Amino acid sequence: MNQNLHDTIFFYKFVPLHNNQKHEIMIQERESFSSKFGIIAAAAGSAIGLGNIWRFPYLAGENGGGAFLIVYLIAILAIGIPAMLSELIIGRKARSNPYRAFKSLAPKQAWFIIGIMGIGAAFLILAFYTTVAGWTLEYIFVSASNGLAGKSTTDLNTMFDGFISSDIRPVLWQLLFMFLTAFIVLGGIQKGIEKASKILMPVLFVIVILLIIRSLSLPNASKGLSFFFNADFSKMNADVIVQAIGQAAFSLSIGMGTMITYGSYIKKHENLTSTAIQVSITDTLFAILAGVMIFPAVFAYGFQPNEGPDLVFKVLPVIFQQMSGGYFFGLAFFILLSIAALTSTISVLEVVVAYFSEEFKITRKKATLYSSILISIFGVFCTLSFGSLSDVTIFNLTIFGLFEYTSANILLPLGALFIVLFIGWKLGKSFIKNQLNNEGSLKSPFANTLIFMIKFIVPLALTVVFMYQLGLIKL
Ligand code: TRP
Repeated sequence: MNQNLHDTIFFYKFVPLHNNQKHEIMIQERESFSSKFGIIAAAAGSAIGLGNIWRFPYLAGENGGGAFLIVYLIAILAIGIPAMLSELIIGRKARSNPYRAFKSLAPKQAWFIIGIMGIGAAFLILAFYTTVAGWTLEYIFVSASNGLAGKSTTDLNTMFDGFISSDIRPVLWQLLFMFLTAFIVLGGIQKGIEKASKILMPVLFVIVILLIIRSLSLPNASKGLSFFFNADFSKMNADVIVQAIGQAAFSLSIGMGTMITYGSYIKKHENLTSTAIQVSITDTLFAILAGVMIFPAVFAYGFQPNEGPDLVFKVLPVIFQQMSGGYFFGLAFFILLSIAALTSTISVLEVVVAYFSEEFKITRKKATLYSSILISIFGVFCTLSFGSLSDVTIFNLTIFGLFEYTSANILLPLGALFIVLFIGWKLGKSFIKNQLNNEGSLKSPFANTLIFMIKFIVPLALTVVFMYQLGLIKL
């Protein structure tokens, strides 16, 4: 059956009559992005987020700087790009939410479990991600009310520690952020967020460049750069490799179905190979720029690069309140950081909402409401794990740490592994080739290399990572 027709019938079946109009809009929305730039902006909007500007710098800081960067770049190339491509292919072919995509491409088989696992990962990711996104809202508020000015480094540190360990404020900001996310998912993404990200991502880029210029002009800036670009391989161990692979998956938004969902909006004639490569390059560029922005400042102001998750929140305010125009730059930075986070949280929530609304036959409105409430409950526990619940530890991690570690280092790589196995071995070489070449109307020069990576390199690398994590092998 024609797939569009199938979608249409599918939606009409479950939608109450009075709501038809809304759902007609929804069907149109599902159809496709408006242009190649629209695809890149939306997918890069998902990929570029706190993962680049908050998480990457602190992981690099903890794991040997340049050494981490090198492993990270290899992971992006060897694992990230083939895995992203696999997701886009699945999505565009099936034109549906990830769960249904596996069901329709492999009927009566267990592959749909990958889709379910992705929903679980989405919950964990949104829970801890909105904690940090909430912090960015607090810092918009503080910057706007000139709360950074005239404070010493110690004051700013104390301020941050006091804020995240309190019980009410961070939770309220988190709920507000979740509300914003839900609001946009509810109101339609492409006209709002696709358009917004086309404008805001370039602005984010400009602000990052300005901050880099300022950061590089600080005393001792070169120390920070050499930390970031000179690889200290004495810090290198299997753990660093695991973290780098997890971060590559996290940063590219792969392993849980986000790119399957976005792939389902991509038209048949678009070149998926170049899409995956362009999105990955843009995302990686932003991570590197974030490092170049942050590490010189870290060293200039006597911080340690292994500060952990609060690196960005403690270090950048110090720079802002010292630099000329800092009020403006600080405010702009946190606004744009929130927006980068928002274009990412939307892409995660969208996966859950699409799944719930289509599979449980409820309206998009209800699906958004229920899933946001459920996720918020998880989220509040994450936020409180910096305060009242900081004593609650599981495997030596706080709730926040557990969610972050489990999703990024276990669920996403596992999801990515199953996805490449599915496409590489279940659907097979000629299927992939056909998709990369758009059924013959295009010639993808890297097709054979990519297929080789999808079938062998990615599964091998990810399997080794898991055997290591389970303690089955020692590296
Ligand atoms: N990639 C985003 C970031 O780096 C976060 C994100 C959005 C994500 N969608 C995802 C992570 C899907 C994993 C899976 O901030």
